[in-house]
Amino acid sequence: MEVMKAAERRQRTMGDVLHLEVGQPSTSAPAKVRETALDALASNRLGYTEATGIPALRDRIARHYRDAYDLDIPPDRITVTVGASGGFVLATLAAFDVGDRVAITQPGYAAYRNILDALDVTVVPIPVGPDTRFNPTARLLDAAGPLDGLVVASPANPTGTVLRQNEMTALADYSTARGLRMISDEIYHGITYGVAAPTAAASSGSAIVVQSFSKYYSMTGWRLGWLVLPDDLVDPVERLAQNLFISPPTLSQIAAVSAFDCAEELDGNVARYSTNRDLLMSALRSSGIDKLAPAEGAFYVYADVSHLTDNSQELCRTWLETLGVAATPGIDFDPVDGHKYVRFSYAESTEDIAEAASRLIGWSQRVGRRRRHLADG
Ligand SMILES: Cc1ncc(COP(=O)(O)O)c(C=O)c1O
Repeated sequence: MEVMKAAERRQRTMGDVLHLEVGQPSTSAPAKVRETALDALASNRLGYTEATGIPALRDRIARHYRDAYDLDIPPDRITVTVGASGGFVLATLAAFDVGDRVAITQPGYAAYRNILDALDVTVVPIPVGPDTRFNPTARLLDAAGPLDGLVVASPANPTGTVLRQNEMTALADYSTARGLRMISDEIYHGITYGVAAPTAAASSGSAIVVQSFSKYYSMTGWRLGWLVLPDDLVDPVERLAQNLFISPPTLSQIAAVSAFDCAEELDGNVARYSTNRDLLMSALRSSGIDKLAPAEGAFYVYADVSHLTDNSQELCRTWLETLGVAATPGIDFDPVDGHKYVRFSYAESTEDIAEAASRLIGWSQRVGRRRRHLADG
């Protein structure tokens, strides 16, 4: 947030900021979704809906699981939510009690740590690194002591790492065998580069899947997501949803039914992310920033910058001030080792990413020259 504020200040005064700090698509919702919303606006009263979402959307999501994963999920097990964020609150309240110990990866998405904390669930950080492709493993979980739950994200924010089918199955089996409730954040499904992202719904009858229209469907501000629930949590989540939210946003729900018919437009966004990803990763490597997390999915590169600084917040400030390139310091995702990392988002236009890439390369050349100059005395 500090970087975003500083970036906005610079945008106002100098107007040249390249936004590699953002965590959302740079595109609007697909055309067909916007059309459906306009029709609904003109013809629908847009009152409250069922707390778990309109049947048409729950049916359409169930069909999506058949089409995309060859999986039969009854619509009863699907609850439409106020984004993945609202879904995660419902899932946490339904699955855990105060004081339960829930493992999350470090680095990981900061809001999950903060939501668990706010609901008095004990957060158990699992430090993950390049040796396990930033994924949790049975060995790492064993070392964490007794656990009641586990949150996994694949593709993950900030690392972009994707759990393979055997890894997802191993974590699901581990959780089942030890009575842990697994929450699988699948918000970046649809945005992968040459690898498949398996759903936990196929590996576990007790896992909760958190999904959203925010990322692949490019609908962040529509505040809409969904949960795939195990049978025993369907009723508790409905009660919680009725009391906490009444219903998810009606206009968004009606429009979102069309989102599943927009693959061409949405896959076009993913193709652009893929081009941007190649550009950015190659520029970072030529700038000597070559210890990069896998970046197999989502739209982030998580880069180890420990050879440049022991304070990535300071480095991000320097890049913003001298280059007009905004990136996010790793401490947002990892309070312990995050000062060694920076997260770059490549969701903006290819022109912007190419320009940022060239400014970063120019910077590293200038720094290299200065270092050589100093070394030569
Ligand atoms: C991993 C992850 N989960 C959840 C969210 C929140 O998503 P939503 O907009 O659906 O609430 C984000 C947003 O950046 C995210 O990166």
